[in-house]
Amino acid sequence: MKLDATVRSAFEKAFPGEDFGFVRVTPATDPKFGDYQCNDALKIAKRLGMPPREVAAKVAANIDPSLKAEVAGPGFLNLTVSAAWLAAALADLAAKPGCGIPQNGAGKRVVIDYSSPNAAKQMHIGHIRSTVIGGALDRIFRALGYEVIADNHLGDWGTQFGILIKGYRECLSDDERANLTVAALEKCYVLSAAKAKADETWKDACRAELVKLQQGDADNLALWKRFIDISIGEFERMYAKLGVKFDTYRGESYYNDVMPGVVARLQEMGLAVESEGALVVNLEAEKLGVAIVRKSDGGYNYTTSDLACVKTRVEEYVPERIIYVTDARQQLHFKQWFSIAAKMGYTDVKLVHVPFGLMSYQGKAISTREGNLIRLDDLLTEAKRRALEIVQDRGGDEKLAEQIGYGAVKYSDLSHDPATDIDFSWDKALALEGNSGPYLQYAYARVCSLMAKAGADASGPSGGTFAVETPSEKRLALQLLEFPGAVVRAAEAYKPSVLADYLFQTAQLYSSFYQNSPILKSEAAVREARLGLCALFGRILRTGLNLLGIETPQHI
Ligand code: ARG
Repeated sequence: MKLDATVRSAFEKAFPGEDFGFVRVTPATDPKFGDYQCNDALKIAKRLGMPPREVAAKVAANIDPSLKAEVAGPGFLNLTVSAAWLAAALADLAAKPGCGIPQNGAGKRVVIDYSSPNAAKQMHIGHIRSTVIGGALDRIFRALGYEVIADNHLGDWGTQFGILIKGYRECLSDDERANLTVAALEKCYVLSAAKAKADETWKDACRAELVKLQQGDADNLALWKRFIDISIGEFERMYAKLGVKFDTYRGESYYNDVMPGVVARLQEMGLAVESEGALVVNLEAEKLGVAIVRKSDGGYNYTTSDLACVKTRVEEYVPERIIYVTDARQQLHFKQWFSIAAKMGYTDVKLVHVPFGLMSYQGKAISTREGNLIRLDDLLTEAKRRALEIVQDRGGDEKLAEQIGYGAVKYSDLSHDPATDIDFSWDKALALEGNSGPYLQYAYARVCSLMAKAGADASGPSGGTFAVETPSEKRLALQLLEFPGAVVRAAEAYKPSVLADYLFQTAQLYSSFYQNSPILKSEAAVREARLGLCALFGRILRTGLNLLGIETPQHI
């Protein structure tokens, strides 16, 4: 924020020779303390050997009087900005591309590993969270200037493929085999797995197919490849609806050849030791238990695969960080292998796990047994159907119903802190009032129609003439200036919900501004100034919603 620099330089002038890089200005917690505050005089007072209030007073004396710096409490610095300062700050923000989102990530590369479903199964409601949270982080990091590699780490290897290959050959009709779908794969898996449970011969045959596949048998490899391609095709149909796009689909199988070398290295380093026939890394010292890196049957597991994967990603991409978006039940797995990776020397890369909580559906836990393991495709179809009911009275079409229905599903997830458990409810997701996707989309459409009536364009750059007079204008103006900060905080916390909260609050402040301030009927100068605020609000809302992967139709 620009004020950071202003106040920092006041610190520097008051106390030459000290480093004040840590100085930050934040919005005031209560308007009675002014508009902004800085509490850093308290941090530095001890080192300067001076009471904090005196430090603050010396700094205040070096701040331009138009910012009305005042010392309060034990040594807080409160700032009250003038109407002219606000107008200039708004014009400055409006003139910047991307509504002032700073390019903090320029020159830095990050890999984001998200969605990552298991192949040969249809995506269900449980897959929404990783896809939608990861997709929003992907967009936010790109907007901050990072080079993002969005990688879908498909579960595309493992014992299930023996069962599937056998099932495909013997449980499907010729027609099903010729026009293979993920639904048919799921069906033959269920049938084959049930037979394997009841019949030892069948089970052995499945295992034999798996061994053939692992040894590179051409027929089984070709079948496996076909299963994966069909799965990706089906997943991409969902991703298109959700507005998510991957740069690479490197599933677990991609790292098969890398795993033996990683395990050999762990042994050489003395990190992995034999235990009951398996090879394990002892992490008891960090209270992380014991991680198996090679099973007693000689096979590798999820830990080995993630270690091989990080080695490959680090060597190939040299990323500044890698972000993994998975459900919170995988926390121990990530803690374990992050620790092993650090011991192996992968310390230049920042490894981040973004865990998310469970999702229930209309108040009920999601489980196959409850019969509510809803397919993602069906959920999205239902979202569209319900949205169409809402928009068709207004002449809305299918395209609009998709924008609103899919937006509602996404926003209902993104408006919550990823770490919390959430409940998906149709009423809440599609509510036209309250913290919902449709509410924010309507707010955007309304500002567009206002701009159209005024003969201006909410999507273009605003005129740049700002004037801030009334309290509701001022509250909205201060809030609009926080947009770049909200995007930065969302990225730093790996929580798209920070941005969603910001947008919702902004829309509420806009709505009270709108109710209190006649616009089109005001005299020319006031009208122009207020339209300027409306246009900037519109741009910020659109930019912010798009960062969450939510479309912003101009007419609803
Ligand atoms: N396929 C896993 C699952 O369905 C998620 C993989 C996440 N990525 C990773 N590198 N472990 O839970």
